[in-house]
Amino acid sequence: MAENLIIPESGDKKDRYESLLPQIEALTAGEPDLVANLSNIAAALRYGMGFFWVGFYLVKDDTLVLGPFQGPVACTRIARGKGVCGSSWAEGKTILVPDVEAFPGHIACSSASRSEIVVPGFKNNNVALVLDVDSDQLNDFDATDQLYLEKLMRLVENFL
Ligand code: SME
Repeated sequence: MAENLIIPESGDKKDRYESLLPQIEALTAGEPDLVANLSNIAAALRYGMGFFWVGFYLVKDDTLVLGPFQGPVACTRIARGKGVCGSSWAEGKTILVPDVEAFPGHIACSSASRSEIVVPGFKNNNVALVLDVDSDQLNDFDATDQLYLEKLMRLVENFL
């Protein structure tokens, strides 16, 4: 397919996810390389959804290590159970943070981040990576983001 995205300018968040997800599926179809696919997914989410920061942290031994991302430079390593990403890894579930300052142990990679969602991806029932999306607005993520980003991670799991 052509390497560009078509996103409805009008329409709500659900419409944008509904448009974007099949395009991400097409963009990654037939490409087995994990880094290539995660890189394009990060760019598709950043530019398709207008997120402030979007990226992946991959489980490597006993730590999360920064993977492909779009946005300002970020922390490179996060321990299991630390911050939102490390908590999502330890608990094996999505974590929605409406106000990062109210999340105990939140790791502030950028002082501009105000709210965040972290979604884990699994290989053989173990967390293999997490998707982290940050906003510079408070309370920017909800059940719609959770639904579609979890669907996206089911797609990502095919590359693992
Ligand atoms: N805030 C995250 C760290 C990663 S950055 O936001 C990119 C956390 O608390 O895990």
